[in-house]
Amino acid sequence: MIENNLKHEFLEAVVSGLNAETRSLPTRFIYDDTGSRLFEKIMALPEYYLSRTEYQILKSQGKNISSIAINRQINLVELGAGNGIKTALLLEHFIKQDIDIIYTPIDISQAALDSLIKHIQPGFPDLKINPMCSDYFQAMEILKQEESRTRFVLFLGSNIGNMNMDNAHLFFNTLHNRLIPGDFVLVGFDMIKDYKMLNRAYYDSQGVTAAFNLNLLTRINKELGGHFNVDLFRFYSYFNPLISAIESFIVSLEEQDVAIDAADTIFHFNKWEAIHTEYSFKYSLKSIELLAEDCGFSVSRHFHDENGWFTDSLWKV
Ligand code: AVJ
Repeated sequence: MIENNLKHEFLEAVVSGLNAETRSLPTRFIYDDTGSRLFEKIMALPEYYLSRTEYQILKSQGKNISSIAINRQINLVELGAGNGIKTALLLEHFIKQDIDIIYTPIDISQAALDSLIKHIQPGFPDLKINPMCSDYFQAMEILKQEESRTRFVLFLGSNIGNMNMDNAHLFFNTLHNRLIPGDFVLVGFDMIKDYKMLNRAYYDSQGVTAAFNLNLLTRINKELGGHFNVDLFRFYSYFNPLISAIESFIVSLEEQDVAIDAADTIFHFNKWEAIHTEYSFKYSLKSIELLAEDCGFSVSRHFHDENGWFTDSLWKV
């Protein structure tokens, strides 16, 4: 049932994206089990400084972060949890403070959740983990208003970067509606910086980011009866300073027709035609603060590395 819904959503998103004037494919569907594994490889790339930098921030400042949320009972809700390695740093500090904690990791990939539990549970054998496999908006419906625990919501790793400003506002407005005064949100933002460094992080020399994006075509082939020859497409990305975002694309290397059986349609691609696959928006302290305030949050503190490459921003409801 859930599987069918997801497949239907995937199909709808692919068809509407490929029929749009500016063609695109839905970013969130990169993350099947293969895509999630490729993202783990991205996080280990020398050029992809984001995960490493955020890890250092949480390692050196996790104690300060956790001590701001002094409350006896906390539900640590993590949206887009991934592998949970960074979260373990925060859990450690919460537990040291004798806080009674429930951990609710939410991710669209079951494989990511399985690997997260494998990583986290051995280090915290008594920790109650309530994993949920769903997308962000579905997950937010479940954040119950009446819960007695203080909600501490984690949205780390620059996952927010995939959303344009309208969607980021919608996301945080919705989240704000689900929370009550006293709850917290910790959001990881990648900061605007030297374009060269940004470009390198999203166009790595080993081609892992390329494989990650091209996985969308493989997934369409597997799940929707697509007939993409992945070798006839190429990955491309660049930093667009006019919108402060890395934009990623899949480019057709030839004029070609590709059938997608589940859509009962043949799609025509021109030589060098681009399909938009991903935005990775970059922020300044000012744009973070504007976003928080626009959505009803107050910024408690920014936690960043010494270079100012990445910021975990703690917001209060
Ligand atoms: C998972 C959205 C944080 O945009 O940096 C990494 C995904 N795409 N390299 C990002 C991604 C290409 C990543 N986020």
